[in-house]
Order: sequence, then structure tokens, then C-alpha cells
Amino acid sequence: MIIQPQIQGVVARNCHPYGCQASVRDQIETVRALVQTNEIATKDSTPKRVLILGASSGFGLASRIALMFGPAAASTIGVSFERGPSEKGVGSAGWYNNVFVKQEADAAGLTTTNIIGDAFSNDVRQQVAETIRSQFGGKVDMVVYSLATGVRPNPEKGEFWRSAIKPVGKTVSGYSINLENQSLDLMTLPPATEQEIDETVKVMGGEDWLNWMSFLSDNHLLAEGCATVSYSYIGPKHTHDIYHGGTLGKAKIDLHQTRTAINTLLAPLSGQADVAVCKALVTKASVFIPGLTPYLLVLYKAMKAQGLHEQCIEQMVRLFYQKWPNKDDRDEDGLIRVDDWELSDDVQHAVNDILPLLNPENFRELGDFDGVYQEFLQLNGFEFDGVDYQADISLDALKALLP
Ligand code: NAI
Repeated sequence: MIIQPQIQGVVARNCHPYGCQASVRDQIETVRALVQTNEIATKDSTPKRVLILGASSGFGLASRIALMFGPAAASTIGVSFERGPSEKGVGSAGWYNNVFVKQEADAAGLTTTNIIGDAFSNDVRQQVAETIRSQFGGKVDMVVYSLATGVRPNPEKGEFWRSAIKPVGKTVSGYSINLENQSLDLMTLPPATEQEIDETVKVMGGEDWLNWMSFLSDNHLLAEGCATVSYSYIGPKHTHDIYHGGTLGKAKIDLHQTRTAINTLLAPLSGQADVAVCKALVTKASVFIPGLTPYLLVLYKAMKAQGLHEQCIEQMVRLFYQKWPNKDDRDEDGLIRVDDWELSDDVQHAVNDILPLLNPENFRELGDFDGVYQEFLQLNGFEFDGVDYQADISLDALKALLP
């Protein structure tokens, strides 16, 4: 079969496996290039055995690559929920990211294991525990919590909590990008109900992060000095109606507060929980956030013009080798700010000048539509130089690729 991108709304319905390989290699090269330019420091404190929940794409994948292929040379366990190839389709990009991270790690002599399943399930927790015992000397030094999902099982009721990306207390109208039609569409979001707020906090708040840390602690799987980090977004004022002040923001505030409980849990090990506030970026999860995409278009344009644009991998290199090891590099709320360049005055002034002018006729010129669209395609393995997109790929060859 010849694989061409299939996009529905803001969802990619397929991926190109060998483009995912190119993406993984590109990210590894980025890390190695940053190491060579000495922009990142090696610290003795960098973690060596790392569990990454949500390791197959976006920030979790970038965390994994930065920690494995940077100076930490860490061994990693990556947990993700992905689909392999079958008669129904080629499988998901995250599946192939796992496959090729493992191949590159094997070639570099690094220990790595992929566990593919529902991170909310007891079964996956047990698999992680067994892997830590059998392959990681019984302990991990760091847990990266980077799950992004719309649903979480409610074990008591046998139902699901479902997140809703909505404003709180007001109706919000604005543009949202449609990647399938390449258009900017006007949309109106009604305020979330109390139940929608509560369920979004259940799905994207801190409870499951704490549950994971408690499980690992109860089973004596955390090393002395064990650290954990989870990711958040705050953003500038014009995104607050839909993000920081909306349901997702409520969930993130809950996540920030959960650090206190996890720090108490880790105190006997002298461990530490951190939340890193990251930059707005195109990922599988973020293009789903209605109303955020016009901001992304203008932000990309402004940050590229000022030479400050980063993708997940550059963000994670800066996080793990510059900001995280420097315990003084926290804001007044104790958060690590990798969104510092996004929120700098120069970038925000440029954004403020353009964003109010953006409309369905001019968004390609005023915003970096081409850049955002290319990053979206690349998340799914398309648009890489050096990949033969006309090649006939057999399903059997793909089934032989194991994560
Ligand atoms: P993503 O969609 O690229 O990755 C999500 C990961 O979670 C994937 O590896 C997926 O397989 C895994 N996952 C989802 N449900 C799972 C389940 N039930 N069991 C096991 N694995 C599961 O998401 P992204 O954007 O990297 O988000 C990660 C974190 O970063 C989130 O907390 C998000 O809020 C945060 N963040 C994202 C920003 C952005 O602009 N994309 C900005 C700042 C923070």
C-alpha cells in the first residue's frame, strides 16, 4: 500500500511508519546537536532509570528521547496507549514511535521497554512493577507523567469520566482551525456544567499522578532521591477563557496542587515532585483544544521571527538539562517555567499586534499556517525529507516491527 495522509477535522486517521522513524531520528539528532554546542549541561543528578507515562508522542516522547539520547543516557520504561498494524489499518504514529525509539536505543546499548496498554488499569501498573524489578534493579529515579486523554475509567462504577474542553461560567466564541479543510471556522462554546468540570479534573487533574506515585512507593519501586515531573500549560490572557480559566485550567490547578501530596509521599526518600509549565505546541492533544489554534498560528509566526521557536524536543532538553537540575529555577508558585520564551514581552507584543486581526481570509499570511500544518503532518510521519512516500509498504513488513 502507498500511505497518504488522511485527516478528519483535526484528527489524523493514519500515519506513515517510516516517517515516524524519521521523526524519532530527527529528535535524537536535535538532542545530540544541542549537546555538541554545549548548550546543555551534564549533571550528576540526571536520572538514570526513568518511567514515562505517556511516552509515545508529544512531550512524553520528547522527554524520553532527551533523557535517553542526551547526557543522562537513561534507561526508560515507556507506557502508552497505541494501536499496531492490522487488517483495519496501519496503526497509530505512537506505535511506530515506540518501535523506532526501541530500535535506536538497542543500537545505542540503552535499556528500554515499551508497555502498551491503559495506564489507568491495574494490569499496566503490575506490568510496570515487574519490569522495574526485572530490568531496572528494582527502582526508578524519575517518573514523568505525560498522559493526555479524554477519558479515564471510573473503577467504582465501571463507567468512564470524560473530559470536556469548555469555558467556565461564560460562553466563548472565537475561531478554531480545521486542518482537514484548511480553514478557520467560527465556533461558540457554552459554559461547562459542574459535572463536566468535575469529570475534566478527574481525567486531566492530579489524582492519577498521585495514584501512580502511591502505587510505586507502596511497592518500594522508587529510589532514594526519586523525582517526578508532570506537564502543564497556563498561557497568556487571551487564551485564558478557553484554557486557564476553563475546564482544562481547573484540571491543571488540581495537578499543581497535587505536588504537595506527592512531595509528602516522597519526603522519606528526599524526593521531589515538579510541574513544568510548557509552551503551546502542536501535538495530537493540543489541536483538539478549540480556540487555542488561532493563538498557535500567531505564536509560531512570532517565535520563529524572533528565533525562539522550539518543538517538544528542544523544550524537554531545556527542561531536563537546564531548568530541572537547578532547584532555584522555579517561579513563586514552585513551578518550572519552560514557557518563559513564549510569555516574554517581545513575543507577546508581537502576538497581541496580530491576533485581533486574524480572520478566515488572512490566517495563512498573518499566522504561520504552513508551519503549524507541517508540524501536524510530521507528528503523523508525513512531510519528512528523505522518506519515500510513494513506496509500496506491505502490512506484513509493518507487523514484523515490534515496539
Ligand atoms: P500527546 O497526545 O502527544 O501524548 C499523550 C500520551 O499519552 C501518548 O503517549 C498516549 O499514548 C498516552 N496516553 C493517553 N491515554 C493513555 C492511557 N489511557 N494509557 C496509557 N497511555 C495513554 O499529548 P501532549 O500534548 O504531549 O500532552 C502531554 C502533557 O503535556 C499533557 O499533560 C498536556 O496537558 C501537557 N502540555 C501540552 C502542551 C501542548 O501544547 N501540547 C503545552 C503544555 C503542556
